[in-house]
Amino acid sequence: MFEISVYAAALAISVPQAVFSDDCASPDLARIALACTGCHGTSGQGMGSIPAINVIPESKFIRAMQDFKSGHRSATVMDRIARGYEDQDFLKLARFFWNRR
Ligand code: HEC
Repeated sequence: MFEISVYAAALAISVPQAVFSDDCASPDLARIALACTGCHGTSGQGMGSIPAINVIPESKFIRAMQDFKSGHRSATVMDRIARGYEDQDFLKLARFFWNRR
């Protein structure tokens, strides 16, 4: 019983770390982020009239993407783009670009 609860405790600690680890080298994450860099620049620094996204703190970034997705925030393209992603992706993308500022 003790062993099981220790294992459960270890899982509880290790799972979030695995999910939220800032794995910028992850090929999956790099591929997801590629869908953004064409417009927002390779570092998310913005290009022309496209806003910089590597300066937006995590919670604000996630909120912006959720608002685009739900239609709360009107947009020309981001509403459609955001619909292809989950909250997990928003968090990863927020960190990916923040680390490139
Ligand atoms: C086709 C070009 C294009 C692509 C691709 C694109 N964006 Fe955008 N993004 C925009 C534009 C344009 C805006 C301004 C809002 C609007 O009109 O849609 C914007 C706004 C944003 C904002 C809000 C910025 C602010 O200052 O509030 C965030 C966050 C964002 N984009 C994230 C992303 C992410 C993450 C991706 C990749 C999944 C992505 N964008 C892909 C064009 C793009």
